[in-house]
Amino acid sequence: MKSKLRQKFIIGNWKMHTTAAEAGHLAKSVVDGVGTEDRVSVAVCPPFPYLALVGKILEGSRVALGAQNLYPEKEGAFTGEVSPTMLRDLGCKYVILGHSERRHKLGETDAFINQKVRVAFAAGLNVIFCVGETLEQRQASQTEAVLDRQIVHGLAGVATNAVPRLIIAYEPVWAIGSTGHQATPQQVQDAHALIRLRFGQMFGKELAQSLVIQYGGSVKPENAAALLRCDGVDGALIGGASLKADQFIAIVRAGTSEWHTKQEAASQPSHNPELEPKQTQMNASKLDSRN
Ligand code: 13P
Repeated sequence: MKSKLRQKFIIGNWKMHTTAAEAGHLAKSVVDGVGTEDRVSVAVCPPFPYLALVGKILEGSRVALGAQNLYPEKEGAFTGEVSPTMLRDLGCKYVILGHSERRHKLGETDAFINQKVRVAFAAGLNVIFCVGETLEQRQASQTEAVLDRQIVHGLAGVATNAVPRLIIAYEPVWAIGSTGHQATPQQVQDAHALIRLRFGQMFGKELAQSLVIQYGGSVKPENAAALLRCDGVDGALIGGASLKADQFIAIVRAGTSEWHTKQEAASQPSHNPELEPKQTQMNASKLDSRN
């Protein structure tokens, strides 16, 4: 079976950073740096207060707008919350849901995240659905069970026709930010294979084959190529490095060049790197190793 080459998605999660002036400047620099690049899909997700400002700057560019959260209701008495309709109104194409900072610092449950996912799809948004284990869970060999639970509960009830608008981002909590830990390409590849396998059990092999799975956790210009080269890694969700336009653009470039490499390899009749990876050989102990 020869499968289609999946596009790479490089998305910046600015988290709770930037002033209005910084957001505007960063957005302009990203637009200029991305230029007419069309092999890689690029988006930035600024904080809510700057969505309109950044959206204006992105107009007519190849950089899409995303939000970092939403509330799972169309409208109503929900003081301080932001609805999916409002995000659409502001020109958002993407929304990040299930981020570990919201799961662990704000106590979001799988059930609440699932509500958000379904409401976001109903509003026509593309969902970047984050999953990932903590260090304690990895050390207790629970990575597989945690990813499994987050996927099964977080995506429950999602219609198959929404799946083309879904990106899963694997973000091991222990590798996010300045923790001193980085996931190795092998650990990332193994986790992505597991996610694709579980997803395939829910939605079928064909949809699993076209599912975009990004990696997030200390992605920098120095390690981007090695991570993006892995089987089943279709892009990166970037925190810290997305706040520096030159670093973010360097990662976009790494994505473009990996896309070209994979495209060339895929056009060779004898070798197809996108064939299903070693999913059936998934080894839980290997998955949970940290080095
Ligand atoms: P860092 O790139 O800063 O590790 O953050 C990753 C992340 O959480 C993106 O959503």
